Amino acid sequence: MLSIIQMSDKKAISAGILGVGSYVPDRVLKNDDLEKMVDTSDEWISTRTGIKQRRIALPEQAASDIAIPAAKKALDAAKVLPKAIDLIIVATSTPDMHFPATACILQYKLKCTRAAAFDLSAACSGFIYALIVAQQFVNTGTAKYVLVVASEVLSKAVNWGDRETCVLFGDGAGAVVVGPVDKGYGILSAHLAAEGAGWDLLTLPGAGSRIPLTVESVRNGKHFISMNGKEVFKFAAKVMEEGSLKTLELAGLSKEDISLLIPHQANIRIIEHAAKKLGLPMEKVMVNIHKYGNTSASSIILAMDEALEQGLINTGDNILTIAFGAGLTWGAAVIRWV
Ligand code: UT7
Repeated sequence: MLSIIQMSDKKAISAGILGVGSYVPDRVLKNDDLEKMVDTSDEWISTRTGIKQRRIALPEQAASDIAIPAAKKALDAAKVLPKAIDLIIVATSTPDMHFPATACILQYKLKCTRAAAFDLSAACSGFIYALIVAQQFVNTGTAKYVLVVASEVLSKAVNWGDRETCVLFGDGAGAVVVGPVDKGYGILSAHLAAEGAGWDLLTLPGAGSRIPLTVESVRNGKHFISMNGKEVFKFAAKVMEEGSLKTLELAGLSKEDISLLIPHQANIRIIEHAAKKLGLPMEKVMVNIHKYGNTSASSIILAMDEALEQGLINTGDNILTIAFGAGLTWGAAVIRWV
């Protein structure tokens, strides 16, 4: 486990979020539509998950395509030019292809000509992991501006005949520009963790070096997401609380100091459980799972961008954000907004 607090060293540069952007594909798939595809119901999906609809990318849209509008919006909001970006990190479980990194494709298409670029794999915790990696580069002065992107086209990774997974996921992309901020602002503390013992609870096993892509692997559905939902639920309920409390403690803050909790949007019951355990009223919790489903690494940025649009985040606010996902991984951060 890694516990990180804002460096008090005089030379350390505080890092914060300077701009946020998000994008979702136009096509809406409602629970009613799913009723015609698998043995499910709007009632089951709504009450068990809180999801009412999700967005679905076009056949020709890959992760980098939906990331571009999100990244452009984040760059505009931060007032940072593409050529000022030193590093691009893309958190995704559904990259354009195995290699090159989706970050390299974005570097070219966004004209971030000076930027180094790599992808990061931490599933639904990917945004928090990437944010904290970016923070380290800014803290040390190695990079001034880092573009952190999360982009997921999960509709191309789910088995549309498997009701236990296909109702949960959606497509979407988000981006933030991480850069220097005044001392006392930005990322105050963070916590990154993994429990590899649970690696097999949520996987996309095929087309890797263990199960290469073959006619047989496709016939056996190894190219689809496979999940033990109940076990992931139990894990999530535990770490959402633990990770949040740990991160608050590192920041020297209590729950009363938190203006808004922005959790990973996987299941409304997991979010409500976390809020209850933390003693936070739901008015202080950003929820948009009903509109987009679980967009994995992108979900927190989609919620953050919407919270900004609704005026729910202001300068000086302490934002707590927490995610969990395949790996198993989890991560949390407390951010004092600039
Ligand atoms: O970002 C991280 C990714 N993953 C997650 O966060 C997932 C965490 N887990 C969950 O959110 C929940 O476990 C699920 C939403 C996946 C499932 O909810 P649950 O309350 O744990 O349901 P369950 O798996 O215990 O299934 C209850 C029943 C079962 O039927 P029986 O055995 O009781 O007859 C399932 O077969 O519901 C059935 N079921 C469905 N019924 C209608 C499962 N999926 C569906 C469905 N529609 N889509």
